[in-house]
Amino acid sequence: MPTILAIESSCDDTSAAVIADWEVLSNVTAGQAVHEEFGGVVPEHASRAHQLNIVPTVAVALSRAGKSADDIDAVAFTRGPGLIGSLMVGVSFAKGFALAHNLPLIEVDHMQAHVLAHFAEDPKPTFPFLCLTVSGGHTQLVVVRSALEQEIIGRTIDDAAGEAFDKSGKMLGLPYPSGPEIDKLARQGKPTIKFARPEPGELNFSFSGLKTSILYTLQKKVKTNPSFVKENLPDICASIQHSIVAILLRKLTLAAEQTGLTQVALAGGVSANSGLREGLQALAKEKGWTVFAPRIEYCTDNAAMIGVTGAFKYAAGEFAVPEVAPAARLE
Ligand code: KG4
Ligand code: ZN
Repeated sequence: MPTILAIESSCDDTSAAVIADWEVLSNVTAGQAVHEEFGGVVPEHASRAHQLNIVPTVAVALSRAGKSADDIDAVAFTRGPGLIGSLMVGVSFAKGFALAHNLPLIEVDHMQAHVLAHFAEDPKPTFPFLCLTVSGGHTQLVVVRSALEQEIIGRTIDDAAGEAFDKSGKMLGLPYPSGPEIDKLARQGKPTIKFARPEPGELNFSFSGLKTSILYTLQKKVKTNPSFVKENLPDICASIQHSIVAILLRKLTLAAEQTGLTQVALAGGVSANSGLREGLQALAKEKGWTVFAPRIEYCTDNAAMIGVTGAFKYAAGEFAVPEVAPAARLE
């Protein structure tokens, strides 16, 4: 198999990876602390930071892999979905690199790549399997028939699971992104507060009702005790995490029952959540599922997953047509 240089720049992480013979030789990610003080990703800052980071990130990825530009057989890049200004930086770099070195380009769908992050290292699931992809922008249940045949059977109708964590954290005055903070605090507390969690039918998710319930419950408690949040932060976080995880696992169970699939995989940044991982392990024991949860490095946005997807597309002969500017097809 070829040696692939992969570029990911869809949101606020600039990442580059080198994949050779299905092995990840390097996976280098430059994060962007600039967004913390705004409580969320500011697209303009994100694209400017990508511009600063892209060249050194690729240089480090190549050097850690022990490769030079001459060793690369193809360039894979994230086509979308994502922030347009952020995507443009990665796409432009990939196109420039491919043109300069006369290499084929491979367009990769960011969500498809999150699912295929499971093939970055062992243990790998076999096809078909069921994947719950939970990130800052998406919440999806995917039937993965083969690497490039993925069917979304459930999705959020409003906020993503990561957004539910981040917006709840904002209400509590926690720094952005709040998912890891809530996770840390939840470990010191108990889920003593019950929130309403209205859910849509079938396999779709909704987190906006839960978010409203968290807001109203906290407002009511603060009215009688202005220090309620400060005094009960671990229990509040444990209760929020418990509610989000319960919604995710309920729909995942339904999807497993409907599809009959017993290999269950987690993908996306929220799969780093300890409550979700523990809850899924317990459920898997009860149901007889085999669980696949990649290392955190491969759960959050990373170029290794773009490279692995690129390798599958290279094997299938799926290349971007050079005459059609990939940027024109950004989502
Ligand atoms: O996949 P990802 O890195 O980027 C997107 O494509 O969105 O996911 C980022 C999301 C953020 O919402 C962040 O709060 C959440 O993943 N996250 C967590 C944890 N670590 C990251 N949520 C809950 N618990 C965590 N430990
Ligand atoms: Zn992502």
